[in-house]
Parts: sequence; structure tokens; C-alpha cells
Amino acid sequence: MSAASTDPADPRLLGRAVKRIAYAAPDIERRVHELGEEITAAYPDGDLLVLGLLKGSFVFLADLVRQIRRPLQVDFLVASSYADGTASSGTVNLVYDPETTLAKKHILLVEDIVDSGRTLSRLVDLLKTRGAKSIEICALLHKHIATELRYPTRFIGFDAPNEFLVGYGLDHAEDFRHLPYVASLQ
Ligand code: IMP
Ligand code: MG
Repeated sequence: MSAASTDPADPRLLGRAVKRIAYAAPDIERRVHELGEEITAAYPDGDLLVLGLLKGSFVFLADLVRQIRRPLQVDFLVASSYADGTASSGTVNLVYDPETTLAKKHILLVEDIVDSGRTLSRLVDLLKTRGAKSIEICALLHKHIATELRYPTRFIGFDAPNEFLVGYGLDHAEDFRHLPYVASLQ
């Protein structure tokens, strides 16, 4: 079975079937490479700290940083807003705070998907108090329904459909993060 299999018998799908592949692995690879070039060009100098929002960004971030051709450091944030399903609970809790200092650095927040934008708005509010030189957002997917996002998303991989998507880091109740593509399930 190939890595990109959408065969319903693929054990990774837990008995579910793929309704639609939104972004296939080669398309993601191509776009992540372009994003890496955009980011490289956007930061000609200064310290760059790439801050991944766990857990959803872990696959994207791992691929993205390898396409950025300038010095950088990596750290993570853990914020939980979706308890165990598909609907936003409305609160954002910081479960892990980066150990690295943010002061005087360019901060690039890396998110898997922007939905309502609530998570990112609250996080940027919080990080703004820490003396960073700049704070920008990079999201693999953007649903463009973000009524609550008070900050622009500078780098966007794809304009996502308003469907619940899984794979390439995105989960449904913690499952399917390891699918190499982004899909909606039946
Ligand atoms: P927001 O705060 O409403 O923008 O929600 C953003 C977070 O919700 C993302 O970091 C994801 O973890 C999760 N999320 C939103 N939409 C989806 C989706 O379609 N699939 C999987 N997770 C999603
Ligand atoms: Mg999630």
C-alpha cells in the first residue's frame, strides 16, 4: 500500500473512507517549498524564531523549516481550544509556553489551519507583551471565515474549503494526524 493510499481498507483511516482529498502530498510539498522561499526572502536579517502551535502544526513545521534558507530557531506553544471534536469551545489555554526568549526576535507563528481565528488572536495578544521585533502568522490552511482574527495571516499555504479536514498534522479527536495528505472523511 502506497503512502498516499485512500483505500478504505487503509488501517490509518480507522474504518472511515476519504470523501475528498483536498490537498495531495505532492501539492503540499510544492507549496511548502514556495512558502519557504517566501519566508526566506521576507527576513533578510535579524534573529528568526519559528514558533509552532502544537499539536496541529508539527508535520507542516518540520517540512517548512527545512525549506527556509537562513538561520532560525524553533520552539513550540501548546494552546488548546478544541476539546475533543469538531467544534470550537471558545477558550484558549496555554499549556506550554516557549522557553526561548522572544525579545528582539522576529517571531513566525506557525499554525495548521485558521478557522475562526480565535486561537491566533488570543496568542498574538499574549505574545505582543514580550518585546518581539515582529510577529507574523504562517498557516498551512486558511478557511477565510475568520471573523475573530484581528491580525493578518502573512503566509498562507492554501485557501481551505469550509469543511472539516484531517491529515498532515490535522486531527479529528486526535486521530488521522499522520495521513500524508489533507482530506475530508465520510
Ligand atoms: P480557530 O481558533 O477557530 O481558528 O481554530 C483553529 C484550530 O482549530 C486549529 O489550530 C485546529 O487545531 C482546529 N481546527 C479548525 N478547523 C479544523 C479542521 O478543519 N480540521 C482539524 N482541525 C481544525
Ligand atoms: Mg486540533
